[in-house]
Amino acid sequence: MRIMVTGATGMLGRDVLRVLQEQGHLCRGVSSADFDVCDVSAVLAAVAAFQPEAIVHCAAWTAVDAAEADPAGCCAVNGMGTLNIARAARTTGAKLVYISTDYVFDGSGDAPHEVNAPAGPLNIYGLSKWQGEKAVTALTSRHFVLRVSWLFGHGGGNFVETIRRLGREKDRITVVDDQIGSPTYTLDAARLIAQMVLTSRYGIYHVTNEGFCSFAEFARVILRADGSRCQVVPISSDEYRSTARRPLNSRLSKRALDENGFPRLPIWEDALRRYLLGE
Ligand SMILES: NC(=O)c1ccc[n+]([C@@H]2O[C@H](COP(=O)([O-])OP(=O)(O)OC[C@H]3O[C@@H](n4cnc5c(N)ncnc54)[C@H](OP(=O)(O)O)[C@@H]3O)[C@@H](O)[C@H]2O)c1
Repeated sequence: MRIMVTGATGMLGRDVLRVLQEQGHLCRGVSSADFDVCDVSAVLAAVAAFQPEAIVHCAAWTAVDAAEADPAGCCAVNGMGTLNIARAARTTGAKLVYISTDYVFDGSGDAPHEVNAPAGPLNIYGLSKWQGEKAVTALTSRHFVLRVSWLFGHGGGNFVETIRRLGREKDRITVVDDQIGSPTYTLDAARLIAQMVLTSRYGIYHVTNEGFCSFAEFARVILRADGSRCQVVPISSDEYRSTARRPLNSRLSKRALDENGFPRLPIWEDALRRYLLGE
C-alpha cells in the first residue's frame, strides 16, 4: 500500500512509519520540514504528488500548556491543518487515520468514555483536536479517528523519561494522583494502526494500552522498574498548578475495538517493561 505518514519525526509518527515500512508498504514520512499542514496548497500538492492510498495523520501541535497562550496557532495546526489533510485525502481517495486524544472529553464521572460520548474539552489543545475530528468526519467517510492517551515512545520527551530523570536527581517528587487514564506505548499503537489501515472498518476508536492508573501510580512503577529509591508524594490537580486544565477521568472504553474485531493493546505495565528494555 502507498501510505503517507504526517508528523513522521514525532514520537508516534516515527513508530508508525517504521512499522509500516517493516511490513513492506511504500511510505512517505513527512514533517514540518516538508510542508506546513496549515498551508493548504502545499498539503494538496504533496498529497497529489505521492498519490497515497492512505494517510496516517500524526502531525499536531502537542504543547498543551503553550496552547493556552496561542489558541489561534494551536487551532490552525490541529483544526485547519487537519481540515487541509482531510481535503487532500478526499481529493485523492485516500483512507485517513487521524490521531486524536482523551483531552476531547471533560473528564467527568469515573466510567470509561465510549467513543460517542459527548465531547467537552477543558483546554485549547483538546478543543483544537476536537475541531480536527469534526473536519475529518465531515470531509471523508473513509476515516479512522483514533483517540490515544499519555503516549510514551523512544526519541520523544515523555512522562517516562521525565520521571526517570527526576528519580536520578531527587529523593522525592510530587505527582498528580487524581487524573486517571491509560499510558500508551507508541509502538503498540503503531502496530494496531498498521493493522487497521488495511481494513475498511472505519469509525472512531479508543487506542490505549489496557489498564488504568493515576500519574502518581505510573510514576511509582517507572521508578521501581528503574531501580530508583525516589519517593512519590501524591498531590491533587488543584495543588499542581499548570496553565491548561486537564480531565480527571481519562478512562477510554475499548468497546469499539472489540465490536469491530480489532485486538486490544497489551496492559500498560507490560508495555512499559518492553519500552524500558529498548523494544
Ligand atoms: N503525546 C501525547 O501524550 C499524546 C496524547 C494524546 C494524543 N496525542 C496525539 O498523538 C499524535 C502524535 O503525538 P506525538 O506526541 O507523537 O507528537 P510530537 O512528538 O509532538 O510530534 C509532532 C509532529 O508533528 C509535526 N508538526 C507539528 N506542527 C506541524 C505543522 N504545522 N506542519 C507539519 N507538521 C507539523 C512535527 O514536525 P517537526 O518535527 O518537523 O516539527 C512532528 O513530526 C498527535 O496527533 C497528538 O495530538 C498525543
